[in-house]
Amino acid sequence: MAFYRVLALFVVYIALLVNLCFAGDPFAFFNFEVSYITASPLGVPQQVIAVNGKFPGPTINVTTNYNVVVNVRNKLDESLLIHWSGVQQRRSSWQDGVLGTNCPIPPKWNWTYQFQVKDQIGSFFYFPSLHFQRASGGYGSFIINNRAIIPIPFATPDGDITILIGDWYTRNHTVSALRKALDAGKDLGMPDGVVINGKGPYQYNTTLVPDGIDYETIEVHPGKTYRIRVHNVGISTSLNFRIQNHNLLLAESEGSYTVQQNYTSLDIHVGQSFSFLVTMDQNASSDYYIVASARFVNESQWKRVTGVAILHYTNSKGKAHGPLPDAPNDEFDKTFSMNQARSIRWNVSASGARPNPQGSFRYGSINVTEVYVLKNKPPEMIDGKRRATLSGISYVNPSTPIRLADQFKVKGVYKLDFPTKPLTGAPRLETSVINGTYRGFMEIILQNNDTKMHTYHLNGYAFFVVGMDYGEWTENSRGTYNKWDGIARSTTQVYPGAWTAILVSLDNVGVWNLRTENLDSWYLGQETYVRVVNPEATNKTEFPIPDNALFCGALNHMQKPQDISAAMAITGNGSKLLFTLLMIISAMVSLFR
Ligand SMILES: *[C@@H]1O[C@H](CO)[C@@H](O)[C@H](O)[C@H]1NC(C)=O
Ligand SMILES: *[C@@H]1O[C@H](CO)[C@@H](O)[C@H](O)[C@H]1NC(C)=O
Ligand SMILES: *[C@@H]1O[C@H](CO)[C@@H](O)[C@H](O)[C@H]1NC(C)=O
Ligand SMILES: *[C@@H]1O[C@H](CO)[C@@H](O)[C@H](O)[C@H]1NC(C)=O
Ligand SMILES: *[C@@H]1O[C@H](CO)[C@@H](O)[C@H](O)[C@H]1NC(C)=O
Ligand SMILES: *[C@@H]1O[C@H](CO)[C@@H](O)[C@H](O)[C@H]1NC(C)=O
Ligand SMILES: *[C@@H]1O[C@H](CO)[C@@H](O)[C@H](O)[C@H]1NC(C)=O
Ligand SMILES: *[C@@H]1O[C@H](CO)[C@@H](O)[C@H](O)[C@H]1NC(C)=O
Ligand SMILES: *[C@@H]1O[C@H](CO)[C@@H](O)[C@H](O)[C@H]1NC(C)=O
Ligand SMILES: *[C@@H]1O[C@H](CO)[C@@H](O)[C@H](O)[C@H]1NC(C)=O
Ligand SMILES: *[C@@H]1O[C@H](CO)[C@@H](O)[C@H](O)[C@H]1NC(C)=O
Ligand SMILES: *[C@@H]1O[C@H](CO)[C@@H](O)[C@H](O)[C@H]1NC(C)=O
Repeated sequence: MAFYRVLALFVVYIALLVNLCFAGDPFAFFNFEVSYITASPLGVPQQVIAVNGKFPGPTINVTTNYNVVVNVRNKLDESLLIHWSGVQQRRSSWQDGVLGTNCPIPPKWNWTYQFQVKDQIGSFFYFPSLHFQRASGGYGSFIINNRAIIPIPFATPDGDITILIGDWYTRNHTVSALRKALDAGKDLGMPDGVVINGKGPYQYNTTLVPDGIDYETIEVHPGKTYRIRVHNVGISTSLNFRIQNHNLLLAESEGSYTVQQNYTSLDIHVGQSFSFLVTMDQNASSDYYIVASARFVNESQWKRVTGVAILHYTNSKGKAHGPLPDAPNDEFDKTFSMNQARSIRWNVSASGARPNPQGSFRYGSINVTEVYVLKNKPPEMIDGKRRATLSGISYVNPSTPIRLADQFKVKGVYKLDFPTKPLTGAPRLETSVINGTYRGFMEIILQNNDTKMHTYHLNGYAFFVVGMDYGEWTENSRGTYNKWDGIARSTTQVYPGAWTAILVSLDNVGVWNLRTENLDSWYLGQETYVRVVNPEATNKTEFPIPDNALFCGALNHMQKPQDISAAMAITGNGSKLLFTLLMIISAMVSLFR
């Protein structure tokens, strides 16, 4: 019985391979079971979101141009979407895992993402994008390696280490906890701590850290150099990352190789990813602290909001001890952090995913075709609810995803009227979307009128960070833009009372989320979408809607019920056999290419 079912699936998969085999590139298959587990990252037992029983979830480790297939099974008690943050879904916003493009995966259902990491390299992460779920975990690292024929701009590291840092609440993300507070118009207040790879702080101080907390230990060999990838997967806190007595040689950020520079510490804002090369050049008289501490806050009150892990040399002679390495001492100098951000440059001569140098795309000499000034504000009341806005508009998710509405010509789901300048009247609730011109070159100015740090992220693209400064942006600010080696990335910080300017080449057709990564402001509506349509009717610039697309909202009637029992049955040994067969096929496909 089970064998025939596997055989049938096998045939279906072969058909899939033949149909969708994008230029014969290799496939990588993953099964993600998303469920609650009990964990106590800060010493208090709570339900956290695990992938395959693990928190954080497994690392996806693939190479440029791989076809990635992830079968996600939703074992939570609410709907789910996984978003692949920073991974550009080239021609396929269908796979982006946000509400503007995908119907949520209902509880007990599964849905298979399939996408190609076309012409990409670098360090990214995935996370659940709905219902504030990221506050309970569900995240993991997503690595895209260079193809063997394309050299990386540094010696091959002796190891590859992933560190996920983030602020953390002992309250969970649900309507009975964090969401309840936000829905009631309250602030979440200070987080309870910072977790590093899902674990709480090492007890570096018995007053500040209770007994019995499990902490992360990173084991290294003396003299070796490691690539350490650090992602801030947290909720709203900017973190300063540092390793006691060790230099952080910055090498890559969100898919761009940077000019390599040493930092003793680096500010990593919510949603950002960096790779550092770290040489284990210390004498191993003791272990060393790895620290992620809250930034731009009153340190005497926020001491608890500090993540501490341990760097352990194999020949270490003792435990880490003494005070933590100092955070930058710049309480009265707010330009320090911004200058550090400005010092992060693109290595224009290094190759990225393709053999030609990164800098051969001369963004500084392309004429801008459209300009959007987007301005946020601290949350405010709209129709009796506390909401967050961008340019005076608080986004409301439609029940029918925008991309799906376009496909089936459902009218009235959204408005293509997002203003190019902030609205001045009373703030309002709208499903208002940016009309992006296919092949246009857009300049976006992000003006942070809030009192908090924000980071903004655009799906589907890497953009060039060309400028940032305090005060109001004006046309004259363009004179300060970096038109040569501004870094291409997908997540940029915007300091409170300051602006950041980005340039983006709208070459990827689809509907793409533009949002604050600050999870509470996002939840309260601080987001929009950029809709990019090729006016020419062709299948070359966008993949067709996937066969397994889910339907909801106005298209709910098109959704077939899912045979949950059949899908469940296959998760036993059958799936292992199937998986093995698939691995064999994909190996064969890559062999005979
Ligand atoms: C979340 O926390 C609330 C309040 O403590 C609790 O009632 C609820 O069961 C928790 N839910 C999950 C999924 O952990
Ligand atoms: C659900 O998972 C099964 C295998 O476990 C797979 O055959 C099926 O295609 C998946 N459904 C969707 C909609 O991806
Ligand atoms: C990813 O896989 C490559 C081999 O393909 C390996 O060299 C590397 O160490 C892996 N990285 C991680 C973080 O697992
Ligand atoms: C531990 O932290 C407390 C509170 O900040 C501080 O007063 C104390 O000096 C610290 N202890 C040590 C050994 O550093
Ligand atoms: C970075 O610091 C290391 C020592 O930790 C040193 O060997 C290296 O030369 C420095 N690199 C640069 C580019 O400054
Ligand atoms: C090892 O390094 C530490 C910190 O730099 C220093 O204090 C200590 O004296 C060194 N020990 C030896 C044996 O070199
Ligand atoms: C920081 O908090 C402490 C303790 O609550 C307070 O005494 C101090 O004035 C605060 N400092 C600033 C700069 O707000
Ligand atoms: C830039 O990349 C090149 C590889 O093309 C590398 O040799 C060089 O060291 C890098 N420069 C810096 C400053 O990182
Ligand atoms: C940009 O615009 C200027 C004049 O507005 C024009 O001379 C130039 O050719 C344009 N450059 C490109 C690359 O289109
Ligand atoms: C959107 O922009 C295109 C040009 O890219 C234009 O033709 C179209 O009229 C615009 N639509 C709306 C509703 O403004
Ligand atoms: C917000 O905008 C107003 C009006 O332009 C300005 O007066 C105020 O200084 C701004 N505040 C911040 C934090 O940017
Ligand atoms: C695009 O592909 C779909 C199905 O894959 C087909 O029905 C449609 O005719 C194609 N459109 C064009 C313009 O080629």
